[in-house]
Amino acid sequence: MLTYRFPRIFELAFKFPPISIWRTKSLNTLVRTIQELSIQPQKILDIGCGAGVLSPMIRKLYPDAEILGIDNSADMINFARARYGKLVEFKVVDFLKYENSYDLIIGFYSFEFFPLSESIEKIKKFLNPGGVCLIVTTGRGSFSILHQFFARKFLKTTLKLYSPFDFYKFFEKEKFSLQTKIISKTEGSYLLSIKSLR
Ligand SMILES: C[S@@+](CC[C@H](N)C(=O)[O-])C[C@H]1O[C@@H](n2cnc3c(N)ncnc32)[C@H](O)[C@@H]1O
Repeated sequence: MLTYRFPRIFELAFKFPPISIWRTKSLNTLVRTIQELSIQPQKILDIGCGAGVLSPMIRKLYPDAEILGIDNSADMINFARARYGKLVEFKVVDFLKYENSYDLIIGFYSFEFFPLSESIEKIKKFLNPGGVCLIVTTGRGSFSILHQFFARKFLKTTLKLYSPFDFYKFFEKEKFSLQTKIISKTEGSYLLSIKSLR
């Protein structure tokens, strides 16, 4: 994907409002949600970690955990590794071809790139008993629709704008509990928390 060949340009987009404001709000919501979970995960996965923006935060919360950031862009992973390689392990991996199991899984603005049912089947398989998956993504807000239009026209990339309810119908109530927090209606962003009840 063209954008993810150039991590510095990607990062530049987050320096200016309103995107910088939405990003800070999303990061704060994610941190608060993790703290509220009161869990001590041993194994943590950051799916589509990009330039590694979450790495310092996750390491600070869980100093002893095994943390892996995966991304299918080698340019993003090289950039993340150079910056945060001492904090977190990074691998060039396509999430849709990856297999493993985790106590905490985070997808921060990456599910827009995944087919829904396939990625949900992976999450279900990946989650250890009592494990949690936190997904921050965009549904249909004014900005995300505009973003989707430009990504299709200029980057030839299809962004998938799922609503929380698109996710809900794939999870059996007796095996998983789900909760949604709206982050920004204009951006269309929300945080979905999926907990394994096994
Ligand atoms: C919008 S960026 C978000 C990056 C990072 N989480 C952040 O918020 O800065 C989406 C990331 O997902 C990655 N990605 C897309 N498809 C992927 C796949 N199949 N497997 C792993 N990573 C993927 C892209 O390379 C990109 O770095």
